[in-house]
Amino acid sequence: MAAQRILISDEVAESCAAILKARGFEVEYRPGLPADQLREKISDCDGLIVRSATKVTAEVIGLGKKLQVIGRAGAGVDNIDVNTATQQGIAVFNAAAANTLSAVEHTLALMLALARQIPRAHLSMLNGKWERNAFMGVELFGKTLGLIGLGKIGREVAARAQAFGMHVLAYDPLIPDEAFQRAGVTQSSLTELVRKGDFISIHVPLTRETKNLMGVEQFNICKRNVRIINTSRGGVIDENALAQALKDGRVAGAALDVFEKEPPGNNSLIGLPNVITTPHLGASTVEAQQRVAEEIAQLVVDFLLYKKVENIVNPEVLK
Ligand code: MLT
Repeated sequence: MAAQRILISDEVAESCAAILKARGFEVEYRPGLPADQLREKISDCDGLIVRSATKVTAEVIGLGKKLQVIGRAGAGVDNIDVNTATQQGIAVFNAAAANTLSAVEHTLALMLALARQIPRAHLSMLNGKWERNAFMGVELFGKTLGLIGLGKIGREVAARAQAFGMHVLAYDPLIPDEAFQRAGVTQSSLTELVRKGDFISIHVPLTRETKNLMGVEQFNICKRNVRIINTSRGGVIDENALAQALKDGRVAGAALDVFEKEPPGNNSLIGLPNVITTPHLGASTVEAQQRVAEEIAQLVVDFLLYKKVENIVNPEVLK
């Protein structure tokens, strides 16, 4: 019998292909595969593994006549048309928790960089200056942090923020009341959080419900000089509304790792003096990439060889 074929179309640590090959799969590793080539190749694949760059559209899935499984080497599945996959009987898996700590640490790094204007101070020194009075910061101690989303990442951010002496409010309509108590955070409505937060950090997936969750209405009522951090998904913030709030001086600063369109191209937020940006680096650590690669390879192996379905994103496919 011919070996089953797995296409890996984004940059994923080597251990992913190694695990698959060791279990007898034929692996094609093509990071950065252009969309037209993906459409050609997919017809011949039993499995597809991606990160966030590959857009696994309804068209791609429709062309995957042999496709049984799509693996997401990471948490967010917003780049995969999961509904279409389900309709076509294709199982979708993600490595849901493997990069949690890296995303958490990147969030804290951005929060501190924003509070102390580290990127601008560094740039000033690169330009030969010594401007000790130009970069007055604020402390995290004693400030209120509003967390939008208290899932795995939100909870770990809360624990670290508490270690800095921050008071943490959280809004999350999807988790039980006890989860707020266990995390030692104050449960809050979105409106209250937006009104009270000195820092607001976003930790929700991009869905129909979370699209533009932080928009004109929220920026109009937020505390003056609030600082916004987003390491989740770009579309959760209305980027034009944020740009306006930054220009009006209502928002003191924003640190953004994610954008509505990636790469963002000509985006009005990039280059604003009070905005720090990184190119979707939340999961970009040696440790996280190793973990996601191994975890997703194992999930795909277990599904294709043993029909194991632990951590499946679309359990409806099994019905
Ligand atoms: C994720 O959803 O896992 C992160 O955003 C990182 C990534 O896209 O790989």
